[in-house]
Amino acid sequence: MKLTKKSIILTGALSLFLGVISLPTYAGEQPYTVTNGNELDASSFNGFKLYRNWCARCHGTYGQGMVGPNLADSLKVISKDQFFHTVAEGKTGTIGSMPAWKANTQVMEGRDHLYAYLKARSDGAIGEVKPKKAK
Ligand code: HEC
Repeated sequence: MKLTKKSIILTGALSLFLGVISLPTYAGEQPYTVTNGNELDASSFNGFKLYRNWCARCHGTYGQGMVGPNLADSLKVISKDQFFHTVAEGKTGTIGSMPAWKANTQVMEGRDHLYAYLKARSDGAIGEVKPKKAK
């Protein structure tokens, strides 16, 4: 390809464009704040409480897996949309069966918070430790 002035401008414009559209993805990647190893922001802490109430008996106290899969690992693979969908509709697969949560308003309204806590676990920002609410 001959590097004309036009193609240089086009490439520049394209990378600028790509830079701009990838920004919201970055912003969405860390929906939590962890300080001192175990202190969570209010939303993620609420996510942990919801998790403990509704999910821990199958997915383990801190998401490490039990009869249900390790969700810290799952969230490295599935997207936020897939997470939302699976929680609403449930899932039956090779591991077992999870009920749908769409009739549970606490879970449904708290899906963002659940995701935030589990994403913090998945990213290794918080380990298999009891979270506290940051002051
Ligand atoms: C009664 C046990 C049980 C409960 C309670 C439960 N799950 Fe599950 N969950 C499972 C099982 C079993 C699977 C695996 C289904 C399969 O793929 O075979 C699963 C799968 C999932 C998946 C998909 C993981 C992947 O890698 O695709 C997500 C996400 C998930 N559960 C989130 C939750 C959340 C959030 C809660 C609490 C609101 C919850 N689960 C409560 C049993 C449960």
